[in-house]
Amino acid sequence: MKIAIIGSGNLGHSIAIGIIKYKNTALKQLIITRRKSFAKYDFAEMGKVTAINDNIKAVKNSDIIILAVQPHHLEKMALEISKYLNPERHLLISTITGKNIQMLEKYFSTKMPIIRCIPNIAISVGESMTCISSNKSGLIQLKKAESIFNALGQTLLIDDEMIQAATVICGSGIAFWMRLIRATTQGAIQLGFNANDAMKLSVQTCLGSSKLLGINSGHPEIEIDKVTTPNGCTIAGLIEMEHEGLSSALIKGLLKSYDKINGIKDQ
Ligand SMILES: NC(=O)c1ccc[n+]([C@@H]2O[C@H](COP(=O)([O-])OP(=O)(O)OC[C@H]3O[C@@H](n4cnc5c(N)ncnc54)[C@H](OP(=O)(O)O)[C@@H]3O)[C@@H](O)[C@H]2O)c1
Repeated sequence: MKIAIIGSGNLGHSIAIGIIKYKNTALKQLIITRRKSFAKYDFAEMGKVTAINDNIKAVKNSDIIILAVQPHHLEKMALEISKYLNPERHLLISTITGKNIQMLEKYFSTKMPIIRCIPNIAISVGESMTCISSNKSGLIQLKKAESIFNALGQTLLIDDEMIQAATVICGSGIAFWMRLIRATTQGAIQLGFNANDAMKLSVQTCLGSSKLLGINSGHPEIEIDKVTTPNGCTIAGLIEMEHEGLSSALIKGLLKSYDKINGIKDQ
């Protein structure tokens, strides 16, 4: 497997780190590209990575092309590389927000196997939630795409129409969860812990909560019932948070992000 990542900003760089760190045994070569120089990023200890500013060379020397540029950079980049893409040889994987399968086919043709996938930056630590959809030509290559992203977290095959919603929940979701962790850390500092200890308490409690759900496959309320003593401190805190609009604020925020993301294709 020879992979090229076109665009190595926040996401492209995280994917590259994940691919290298969580060694995919089928990986023979990884090329990453961007327009500016690579001085900022140090891949020295990562062996197999070739960092270049030449998209055409990257395409010519790879069989899986991961697109990780901003939506407004797609057109120029597509014009540059499309004539070097061969549907018999290449698999195109786009992570570009707001550009659905139909739009991607306009740039790269319906014959091109195209997978659209939305990972998040936790891919760099092997814990991405990656949602995947495909065009008709890409269906037989889905297993290949899944194998790349299954090694870097969990994957879910979804309809292309659901990719925007998945981007909000999983891509933007990293920022939302970070804010919750920051808020609980600040609360712990207010209660007397130093910043380091406060962060540790908050992060590990968050990790434990998600593992309880992941391993027990239960519902949050089942776990909440286990820690809410009648008339106790936990239920008092929860009720106060809901009075202040915790769940409502989160859901409204998700819907706001979803409105915004649906405008991207028109920009
Ligand atoms: N960040 C996330 O968590 C996340 C999650 C899901 C989806 N996405 C989507 O993934 C895409 C990338 O997001 P990002 O946050 O990584 O953006 P970013 O940090 O702005 O990175 C974009 C990269 O694309 C490069 N680039 C632009 N035009 C190029 C070209 N013609 N050839 C080669 N490289 C080019 C830029 O290089 P220079 O810096 O050299 O200009 C930059 O390195 C976006 O469409 C975003 O919506 C991101």
